[in-house]
Amino acid sequence: MAKIIAITNQKGGVGKTTITFNLAKGLASRGYNVLAIDNDPQGNLTTSILEKPEDLEADILNIFKEQFDFKPQKITNNLDLIGATIKLAEVADNVNMYLPLLIKTYLTGDDNSENIADNYDYIIIDCLPSFGPLNVAALIAADFVLVPTKPAPFAIQGLVSLFKNIVMLKKHNFNRSLKIAGIVMNLVEKTNIHKDLEKELKSQYNDMVFEFSISKGTKLEESPYYGESVMEYAPDTKQTKQFNGFIREFLRRVE
Ligand SMILES: Nc1ncnc2c1ncn2[C@@H]1O[C@H](COP(=O)(O)OP(=O)(O)O)[C@@H](O)[C@H]1O
Ligand SMILES: [Mg+2]
Repeated sequence: MAKIIAITNQKGGVGKTTITFNLAKGLASRGYNVLAIDNDPQGNLTTSILEKPEDLEADILNIFKEQFDFKPQKITNNLDLIGATIKLAEVADNVNMYLPLLIKTYLTGDDNSENIADNYDYIIIDCLPSFGPLNVAALIAADFVLVPTKPAPFAIQGLVSLFKNIVMLKKHNFNRSLKIAGIVMNLVEKTNIHKDLEKELKSQYNDMVFEFSISKGTKLEESPYYGESVMEYAPDTKQTKQFNGFIREFLRRVE
């Protein structure tokens, strides 16, 4: 059965979607069967993977409406997608009691549906920047959380409340076996403040922090526009090297 990874941080703009996209593509290119799930009404992961948003055939909205009789959309040989559109925002505004359970039920089967998770090695869920019910739905389904952050004072302070929420989620039995894959530093630049903040993060979170961080780079920012991972789009860049290192480390941490 697949390992399910929720990529989460209630702060926006830290690189959740960028990391989900490159991790999903990178794992698929290594031969793993991957399902990428967009759980953000902004739909940025969806538009990075599909040429046109109207090409979306498998919408996460179906999961939250309990319409489980659909399959993820085939993108390549071993990469599938469940995408999102702005309509997902309506769900977030009309929460019912069991909504947080629905991603798990869809992926790991209820009484009659087949087990979707059996078809994959990795399921990567890109989360929206909030700690509301949609995010909780991803965390209940997940085996691991992966937390991107950036070297900015407020971003690092924000991790305290994120991890507090994860502890509460476990404590109250929402998902006792949820594990932390780690914190990955993104948008790093060679400035003194960034070096200091990276040091601070490592002293607070020790081994939880990935050895490989991702630097800020134009090619990485451009690549989703062309539907390519940075490894495909700009193989000779520092970010490609870093992503390859990050993916190796990711595999080591979740194996
Ligand atoms: N390492 C990076 N170098 C350059 N631009 C980046 C990098 N990581 C993310 N970005 C850009 O920053 C913005 C926010 O990233 P995104 O992945 O959408 O964050 P989130 O999903 O957390 O909101 C996007 O425009 C993205 O292209
Ligand atoms: Mg995003």
